[in-house]
Amino acid sequence: MNIRKPLIAGNWKMFKTCSEAVETAKLLVTRIADVTDVDVMIAPAFIALAQVADIAKGSNLSIGAQNIFWEKEGAFTGEISPQMLVSTGCRYVIIGHSERRQFFGDTNETVNKKINAAIQADLIPVLCVGESEQERESNETFSVLDKQLTKGLKGFGLEEPKKLIIAYEPVWAIGTGKTATDDQAQEVHHFLRTLLEKQFGDSFAKAVRILYGGSVKPNNISTLMAKSDIDGALVGGASLDAEIFSKIVHF
Ligand code: PGA
Repeated sequence: MNIRKPLIAGNWKMFKTCSEAVETAKLLVTRIADVTDVDVMIAPAFIALAQVADIAKGSNLSIGAQNIFWEKEGAFTGEISPQMLVSTGCRYVIIGHSERRQFFGDTNETVNKKINAAIQADLIPVLCVGESEQERESNETFSVLDKQLTKGLKGFGLEEPKKLIIAYEPVWAIGTGKTATDDQAQEVHHFLRTLLEKQFGDSFAKAVRILYGGSVKPNNISTLMAKSDIDGALVGGASLDAEIFSKIVHF
């Protein structure tokens, strides 16, 4: 029996104004009202968080943020604190997405600080890891992932596996239409679970959810979900449309 309840998460990235976000969230809440065996999360842009969280209240849709800063408050122009996220009704936060690592200077060290801050604030971090195309071609996939996971989670004595989510997102599969094959993804997910076992022990590692991300669509989700170590998906482009995203949720 799989003890891990699947999680299908949508990352809206820098798409949708407040009114567009509200409209899509309303549609989504009705489309997924029947879903009980899958957790569903959407991460809108910061500005729409509070409104989307209000719409999701009392429904089976949870809300996440796309980034976080690690200080509680202070002179940090443009940043958002963990407490601010909690105050919007947010439960999850995506940390270390490859676009943040690539364009905004996130490193394994800052990712570690962000995860720590999220955990302290009782937010569930979704730690993103993934190799670039060049790293895969030069056989560095596993060493890159090892560093991202181990450094990202360094220093934590986590006990509740439900309070951590890992997302494997090969950079070459994000927004490209090239999905990792189910076997490629399974191989990496299994490897990540082994690393988690080393740091947190067997029962913790067995219970942590590891999502796959990178061009997930309604037509490839069920093959991916059939793999034993794939516990859900982090969906970008296909999460922007309530109808399409709901098809993925109903895999
Ligand atoms: P994609 O994005 O589904 O558009 O490939 C995934 C992600 O970046 O989380």
